[in-house]
Amino acid sequence: MSAQKKMLISMQLGNGYGAPTAAWRAPQVDPRNYTNPDAYVRYAQAAERGKFQFLFLPDFLSQSQRSDQDSPMLTMDPFITMAVMARETRKIGFVSTASTTFHEPYSLARQLKTLDVISGGRIGWNAITTSDEVSAANFGTSIAGRDERYGRAQEVVQIVQALWGSWQEDAWIADQETGVFADLTKIQPINLRGQYVASRGPLEIPPSKQGQPVVFHAGQSPHSLALAGRFANGVIGNTHSIADSIRQRSNVRRAAEQAGRNPDDIKYFAGISPTIAATKREALDRRGRFIEPQIRQQVGYLGMMLGLHLTAADLDEPLSGATLAAAQAASSDPRSETALELAREGWSVRDILYHGVIDYHPAPVGPPQLTADHMQQWFEAGACDGFWLNPDVYEDGIDAFVDEVVPLLQQRGLFHDDYDGDTLRDHLSVPYQYGMHDDVSAS
Ligand SMILES: Cc1cc2nc3c(=O)[nH]c(=O)nc-3n(C[C@H](O)[C@H](O)[C@H](O)COP(=O)(O)O)c2cc1C
Repeated sequence: MSAQKKMLISMQLGNGYGAPTAAWRAPQVDPRNYTNPDAYVRYAQAAERGKFQFLFLPDFLSQSQRSDQDSPMLTMDPFITMAVMARETRKIGFVSTASTTFHEPYSLARQLKTLDVISGGRIGWNAITTSDEVSAANFGTSIAGRDERYGRAQEVVQIVQALWGSWQEDAWIADQETGVFADLTKIQPINLRGQYVASRGPLEIPPSKQGQPVVFHAGQSPHSLALAGRFANGVIGNTHSIADSIRQRSNVRRAAEQAGRNPDDIKYFAGISPTIAATKREALDRRGRFIEPQIRQQVGYLGMMLGLHLTAADLDEPLSGATLAAAQAASSDPRSETALELAREGWSVRDILYHGVIDYHPAPVGPPQLTADHMQQWFEAGACDGFWLNPDVYEDGIDAFVDEVVPLLQQRGLFHDDYDGDTLRDHLSVPYQYGMHDDVSAS
């Protein structure tokens, strides 16, 4: 059993509340957590108690609050929030998103490596491109085409990694007797100039406990796949079915092979957004609270998913035999199959929606076994190397997962009992790296 490959578990940490935009209104939540570092620390410590490999911090560079009733979706500044959480934890890793489109490589390299050094080698960077015009406006510009965005992204990652390696591993002497602080022949400029970005270097930061931060990526275009294949050790995926996730994971692995890398060095993470309660009914009602504010819009969309015309008047009844006979899962939305299955099981239209069928991730809603079964099924099918968990409400949803799902996964031999090492690279079992990949040379 112990030799069995184990799944990896990470958790998205966004705004201090939870995955639904109405999570801030849950009675167990302090609605001002958005700006409260103690809350983020508590959630990071809960995740560390569950032995999660890392927390994932998304980031966008524009306003994320969509209406008066929604909270922002993200923490104020992910790098600063990571620094606070890292000081109050010992093992868990932190992966933050930072745009390759609007940040300069020198600033990224400096902030990320500093975080990696002060956290004892627990940092990762989700290197994405930004395609949002409002974000571009915040930098006084507009969005370029994919070729340019991904061209810049390649150069930014290369230069960041070169800067990370520009203080050589044995440069720091710190000998008070001889008076030599560091060997300057081993801290040299990189002088890299690409088509979009350039940097002279060196970056005055020694290696961290894991050498340098781990690179992640998220995206779905062929350009994105090529970037991930070349540089990433982790991919944050977006997928709704086992079949789709298997396909996406094998695409990512193939892209790594095409770039001359070992496909096992790139880990694919599938999203999951569970609601955990003692009974199915309790879980549905807990989830339903976050769905109610949008239920009128959702019922119309559910109709589209099933090829039917549904309105709020249909909410409280199951679909009739005749309606069910006419229903068809829309091929345009992979979540439609699940919706149709639930309709056939006889749930009311409201309860179908309470199952989270229109949510961003697959949503096991029920007792802890349901979530454990979902994870086991996906993992054993080869749909992912691990999961990024999106709890409904951080305040008690993390503890519910840690106390009730993690032990089931451990008993089944699917998840580790404890951390084997100290760094994010140890947790992910990806190789040590310092500086650029060997195949990348100065331009
Ligand atoms: C699972 C997932 C997570 C993402 N997280 C972020 C994020 O935190 N911030 C961001 O700006 N973009 C994020 N993106 C968006 C992409 O990185 C990218 O901007 C978008 O997919 C458009 O890129 P494309 O030109 O490759 O289609 C995410 C995408 C996916 C699939």
